[in-house]
Amino acid sequence: MEETKRIMQLREELHQHNHHYYVENAPVISDQEFDFLMHELQDLEARHPELADPNSPTQRVGSDLNNEFETVAHLRPMLSLGNTYNRQEVADFWQRVSDGLMGAPFQICCELKFDGLSISLHYEDGMLVRAVTRGDGIQGDDVTANVRTIRTIPLQLPAGGDYPRDFEIRGEILMPWSSFERLNAERENSGEPPFANPRNAASGTLKSKNSSTVARRGLDAYLYYLLGEGIPGDGHYQNLEAAARWGFRVSKDMRLANTLEEVFDFIDYWDKERRNLPVATDGVVLKVNSLAQQKSLGLTAKSPRWAIAYKFQAEQTETTLRQVVFQVGRTGTVTPVANMEPVQLAGTQVRRATLHNADVMAALDLHVGDRVLVEKGGEIIPKIVGKAESDNSEPTAQKPRIDFVDHCPVCGSKLVRYEGEAAHYCPNDTGCPPLILGRIEHFISRKAMNINSLGAETVDEYFRRGLIRDAADLYELKDKQLPADSLEGEKKAVSLWEGQEGAKILAGIEESKQVPFERVLYAIGIRFVGEIAAKTLARYYGSMDNVASASLDSLLQINGIGEVIAGSVIQYFANPANQAFVERLRAHGLQMELCEQQKQAQSDKLEGQSIVISGVFQHHSRDEYKALIEQHGGKNVSSISSKTSFILAGENMGSAKLEKAKKLGIRIMSEDEFLSLIGE
Ligand code: IVH
Repeated sequence: MEETKRIMQLREELHQHNHHYYVENAPVISDQEFDFLMHELQDLEARHPELADPNSPTQRVGSDLNNEFETVAHLRPMLSLGNTYNRQEVADFWQRVSDGLMGAPFQICCELKFDGLSISLHYEDGMLVRAVTRGDGIQGDDVTANVRTIRTIPLQLPAGGDYPRDFEIRGEILMPWSSFERLNAERENSGEPPFANPRNAASGTLKSKNSSTVARRGLDAYLYYLLGEGIPGDGHYQNLEAAARWGFRVSKDMRLANTLEEVFDFIDYWDKERRNLPVATDGVVLKVNSLAQQKSLGLTAKSPRWAIAYKFQAEQTETTLRQVVFQVGRTGTVTPVANMEPVQLAGTQVRRATLHNADVMAALDLHVGDRVLVEKGGEIIPKIVGKAESDNSEPTAQKPRIDFVDHCPVCGSKLVRYEGEAAHYCPNDTGCPPLILGRIEHFISRKAMNINSLGAETVDEYFRRGLIRDAADLYELKDKQLPADSLEGEKKAVSLWEGQEGAKILAGIEESKQVPFERVLYAIGIRFVGEIAAKTLARYYGSMDNVASASLDSLLQINGIGEVIAGSVIQYFANPANQAFVERLRAHGLQMELCEQQKQAQSDKLEGQSIVISGVFQHHSRDEYKALIEQHGGKNVSSISSKTSFILAGENMGSAKLEKAKKLGIRIMSEDEFLSLIGE
């Protein structure tokens, strides 16, 4: 019974973590913790076959599929590897291979396990023709355009080389530490959230819609697996050497091991030495070197029997807890942060660690002066994972216990916790400084009012000086002078806006008055109203006044607006402070309704239709087609199902999609047919 409950609980947790990891690119636990939970679930499921469920997280290996890219089938499935953190299991692997090969001699190719995202590159006649992400292992996203910008990936191999006419090479796309640090510094400067680790940064970058962004961010790639008919020889190691000669970046840190001891030597060496590498690694990969032997060992459902990944332990150390402070983030989340005696860990001095949330803190049962265990895994911020066993500080009863706070440490409001969420929030979004700043930063951000002459730092400074209290104040800045007493030594009031910098800021603010209504609606920061919902509401109601006076029933009629968003819209406009804020924006000349052109371009010709876009187009970009579909009342969906109304197909529509459409009998509409349908 207990085990049944645990299985259900683990499934739910792992589904959530999968979502954080693959969809949001923002994992909340380390890979190691994830693997442990997954192993626990696998073991329990093995003991309870009666509870088998095709939707259990153990039944799939995650997916990084993204709507923006064409989905294509892999030539050969991209399997993942069995993972272990444990030397005994490495020895077991060796034994299994030896038994499987009936005692025949074999070599193991030892490689670093690069911590990025896997990619499959397809070459024909020496030319890169396609680059596809792993996706769900069967199909992935075609990211060729983005991959072409990675300088260490050859686009054309030198003529006359001994490579096969047609082959696939797989490897890992990585963001080197140096690029990662530069990128995060830039992001923090412009008020964007930093990436948690180079893997997320690489993945976010590769999925960028704009290949010039990819080019700028300095990605790299290491290749580690050559496949196809006619590849040079039977040795995996030797094949990679050949690939290196053809111009691919192949790690120089590969070794052929003849004994288990040599495998352990490799592991021990890199457990320490990996800190000096330019890219992140999280373990080693051990592969049977002979392709013939690989073939005879074969595969299990999810991974080959001829390879295994050994993952390094996250580095841990002990130190003393001094106190816990509570930070209020720009969205109101309250995060407990531990202050500790400084200690060396994984190459840096550590004095602060995150405690995530109230539940994590309660489970740790912390007291001032406790000896604690700190860990630095795949994430940049270290965390406290438990009490140190050697805790010989004073007995617990004599040390003050540290509890989570009930009230906001900044403004004193009572904290709230939303159902199903782990975090506590400060609800005072118009009165608590970090939240006010968060709202102003959201207001000026690129997808909202796009006032890029202002950065987070300037906003902070204006706020500190009392020049702004909310985003509407930005439009009154030009009349403001610096209060005399805030200028050291100077007695007279001075205009803020002397000099070029000031003029540029004011011009940026002025320009934002032309930003279309749908983005104004997004910018005012109604909770749960993201870019898409704002667009939907703007197109449906046409003006701020109509949105503000919409009833709950009317809101719930709209496709894509559920109870959460509808309730939040009602609540927002019921608050007099928000009404006054919107009125001030109106008085400053911001767009409060759709422009004539937008109104005229609208129709309901595609009302109720779900449309998939596929292929390359002549007359408009994909994004323009998406916008056109919405303008005419249709819905753009990413994958084909029986509910799809038709496929808007350009040239080179993916063969997998074509097949599926045929099977389901879904109409394929050409670009010209579509344009005449909407009357363009
Ligand atoms: S070989 C069938 N070699 O680790 C074997 N993978 O779960 C295919 N990885 O998806 C993988 N470094 O993204 C291989 N030297 C290496 C690797 C490596 C990193 C990644 C790869 C794979 C995952 C294994």
